Amino acid sequence: MNHNAYSPTATSAWSKLEEAASAEAPSITDLFAADPQRAKTYSISVGELFLDYSKNLLSNDVWSHLQALAEQSPLQSHRKAMFSGQAINTTENRAVLHAALRAEPQDAKTQQETDRIAQVKSQLQAVKEASDKIRSGQWLGSTGKAITDVINIGIGGSDLGPKLACKALEEYSHPDINLHFISNVDGAEILTTLKKLNPETTLVALASKTFTTQETLLNAKTAIHWFQQTLGLETPQSSSHFVGLTANAANAMAYGIPQNQILEFAEWVGGRYSLWSSIGLSIAISIGFEQFEAMLAGAREMDLHFQNEPVHSNMPVIMALLGIWYSNFLGVQSTAVIPYCERLLLLPSYLQQLDMESNGKSTSLQGEALDYNTGPILWGQTGTNGQHAFFQLLHQGTRTVPVDFIAATKDSLSNPEHHRVLLGNMLAQASALMAGQAAPDGQQHRFYPGNKPSNTLLMNELSPKNFGALVALYEHRVFVQGSIWNINSFDQWGVELGKKMANELLSENSHGAEFDPSTKALFAHIADNS
Ligand code: F6P
Repeated sequence: MNHNAYSPTATSAWSKLEEAASAEAPSITDLFAADPQRAKTYSISVGELFLDYSKNLLSNDVWSHLQALAEQSPLQSHRKAMFSGQAINTTENRAVLHAALRAEPQDAKTQQETDRIAQVKSQLQAVKEASDKIRSGQWLGSTGKAITDVINIGIGGSDLGPKLACKALEEYSHPDINLHFISNVDGAEILTTLKKLNPETTLVALASKTFTTQETLLNAKTAIHWFQQTLGLETPQSSSHFVGLTANAANAMAYGIPQNQILEFAEWVGGRYSLWSSIGLSIAISIGFEQFEAMLAGAREMDLHFQNEPVHSNMPVIMALLGIWYSNFLGVQSTAVIPYCERLLLLPSYLQQLDMESNGKSTSLQGEALDYNTGPILWGQTGTNGQHAFFQLLHQGTRTVPVDFIAATKDSLSNPEHHRVLLGNMLAQASALMAGQAAPDGQQHRFYPGNKPSNTLLMNELSPKNFGALVALYEHRVFVQGSIWNINSFDQWGVELGKKMANELLSENSHGAEFDPSTKALFAHIADNS
């Protein structure tokens, strides 16, 4: 197939999937009854990650058509293009090389790749040196005291990944250093955080790929003012209380951060893929550089698996194809991620940016409007909490919402009794969603239709390595879907218009004059009531 003219809807696999979707499908329980090996056939391991995808609306025929769709799409060449550093982010003419952040020298196939890995290693060495110094109490504030509190100021990819990792891996966290994350421009957040802290022992990590982001720069200004007021520093950003994490060292220097306190990363690291770079400084401070490296190693294990395994035994490809089956053929609009682990509380928010900023697109790589669905709405929260909130809709609502259940089989922070109950609940929910239950006579409200699909993803423990593999798994799932949908998963033009209009609205003397009548009226209402 000529991939320049590629559209997924023009493939023979797509037509077969359409046919299969319109025919009456067997229920998941029928599929299990017909194949005693189903649980085994439809499960796969990568390292310490185990995925059971047998509880899906997936017959053997549909599975073979989905595999054919992957084969008939440019997935393979696109994957090669990404890993080899071609500018697959076409609207910004940029390579997409977050996987190079976790590569090892032996992975390089060309001199250019060897050089790139060496550049990454030297940037990570700076992360090691800074985090070691902070963790060991040798990084001193302006009055000679060791650091006890680190505030990461950043938003989107400069916040969500580090925040997720620090929470997920708190078992490994430094006992005497507290991490704080400030992202929202809502001043109440930073002002209440600063109130609790001692400026003498506080370090601000200013995390911004571009060093131009409105929210981050305003929060930084407020932090600077706080240091000025409390410690009498004239330009706190030039003191040992600030480090800059950025791909734009020139902007960080112009801001006043000394060069040796700027930890750089390359332009080819997308914001939502940047936790593996110096943006992850707060992770390294929290868990130590050795564990940070274990996280990179887990991601690399997933990278190698993704690059080398054929479609039928490739975990990210399998998860991506299931999502496509639901989104494009079965009319599913949203997908839920439910970790049965409170420390993965932030995973759904993290995945919202990863998935929805990447694949919330309606233009093809050739610049044409699409006539099929792309990225679904992703949402979720932890179980068992979700069971007492929105699971009602999952069991008896009118919509089908495929679920990814995620858990660790062992948890050294918990105890056997709690963990048994936690995991028992997860297994019971997945089973109930699939099996359903007939209603007793005259009690339709007690009818559980069942046949609701889910994946169950287990890891042996929530270690840095398994955490790294888990995040990389979702990164690649997003990539596979973007490749099959023929979209650019690596730009985010959709967020620009709102930013521009906010600047216009906030510009002096604007009064919302150029805006629509509703916005003008709201602007006036706020002015009258503030
Ligand atoms: O507005 C979207 C976005 O560009 C994200 O993609 C990015 O992660 C975030 O803003 C923050 O950008 P920066 O790291 O440049 O401050």
